[in-house]
Amino acid sequence: MALLLKGGKVVTHEMTYTADVLCEDGKITRIAQDLSAPEGAEVIDVTGKLIMPGGIDPHTHMQLPFMGTVAADDFASGTAAALAGGTTTIIDFVIPSPGQPLMEAYHQWRDWSEKSMSNYTFHVAITWWDDSVHQDMETLATEYGINSFKHFMAYKNAIMATDDILVSSFTRCMELGAIATVHAENGELVYHLQQQLMEKGITGPEAHPLSRPPMVEGEAAYRAISISETIGAPLYLVHCSVQESIDAIRYAQSRGHHVYGEVLAGHLTVDDSVYQDANWERAAAHVMSPPFREKKHQDALWKALQAGTLQTTATDHCAFCNEQKAMGKDNFTQIPNGTAGVEERLAVLWEKGVNSGKLTANEFVAVTSTNAAKIFNLYPAKGAIAEGSDADIVVWDPKGKKTISASTHMSKIENNIFEGMEVTGVPTLTICNGVVAWKEGELLAKEGDGQYVMRPTYAPFYESLQRRKALAEPKPVNRKS
Ligand code: URP
Ligand code: ZN
Ligand code: ZN
Ligand code: ZN
Repeated sequence: MALLLKGGKVVTHEMTYTADVLCEDGKITRIAQDLSAPEGAEVIDVTGKLIMPGGIDPHTHMQLPFMGTVAADDFASGTAAALAGGTTTIIDFVIPSPGQPLMEAYHQWRDWSEKSMSNYTFHVAITWWDDSVHQDMETLATEYGINSFKHFMAYKNAIMATDDILVSSFTRCMELGAIATVHAENGELVYHLQQQLMEKGITGPEAHPLSRPPMVEGEAAYRAISISETIGAPLYLVHCSVQESIDAIRYAQSRGHHVYGEVLAGHLTVDDSVYQDANWERAAAHVMSPPFREKKHQDALWKALQAGTLQTTATDHCAFCNEQKAMGKDNFTQIPNGTAGVEERLAVLWEKGVNSGKLTANEFVAVTSTNAAKIFNLYPAKGAIAEGSDADIVVWDPKGKKTISASTHMSKIENNIFEGMEVTGVPTLTICNGVVAWKEGELLAKEGDGQYVMRPTYAPFYESLQRRKALAEPKPVNRKS
């Protein structure tokens, strides 16, 4: 199976140049000007278009059982939405219930995800601890290509990881060459504030951000960083949403700590006024954690992304329909937390990032694909347009226009947090594993076309970490008497 993209401009995280791109048997095999098509190859004219690495969304939750329901987009509809938006790989989450064996949960998620249309891989959450968890982390890392483990510092009485779990698990990550990731929010404080707000009779979605003020996130970010830095383990903070988290990350980076930060397309572009909406359904549609924030935090997030303090963008795609959100009609703490976005991320980032002059096209590629590939050890198979790389490609029309709407999106839910946003810059073609998976509004991929992606441990940054750790190894004082 050969595919030749002719007449386009290749955009990678480091350069932009004119070249044709030949894909054969799922790989990019040639990049050069004026390539002639091998016999039988499909030739696609992409004149005026950009050829970029397919998006990698490092944070999605398809089909997640959560807060008494199951996320509405499953691995079929969710990955179809990904492809329609130019994303070719998602990193989803296996989340064992406390006490559930990790391997059992992992195989459960592997079963659910078999119908994926895009490529997919998993972070595995550590929600409890005993010797079997310690052992299963090794099995997952060495046999199943899992190199990242997630810790929810929020969601008390459910999946919250307490400090003892963080210490044990971060230590284990370091032993295995894996990376720890955290949802940084102080779960005790959230719980306390939720009870207070309910007692005051503030039961609607407007109470959601009040129960999770910025310092709730800042404290947890600082705590996770402190624990990981003490252990010497690398850390990745998911969905950073406030100045306080950025400050904690920047300060840690200035000390030489390997800490990475992710920001969601939603947190960059939607502000907290949505919770004041007089329409309950519309306000509840925006209940996700951390909540949408004041404009000043959005500005800080953009600057952190521009500066490289934050390296990746994601969506935390966790879609709930109106009926599911209504489970919290009289109690905001029961509204299933989550919003969608896997289809819109690239277009939103292009519109608000590139078109506004905040990001170059090369930086766009870095924050939507390459950086995630590097941190989670997929590079250069993914996140690159290079000979030998996987043929996961988005062909981008920088002049194409679209208005984002729930009435046209692929997700199963009735709302879209970017509703009405007009974007210039859209995907026209998504190629996944060397095959055209989506083209100008038409989904060509089928259930099961997506491949499970193994992610080996010991990403390149581990070499310096280990050297550092060896040099800092404590030694006893050798006393003669
Ligand atoms: O509200 C959210 N973000 N729901 C999904 C689970 C999580 O915290 O990432
Ligand atoms: Zn150990
Ligand atoms: Zn989270
Ligand atoms: Zn999440």
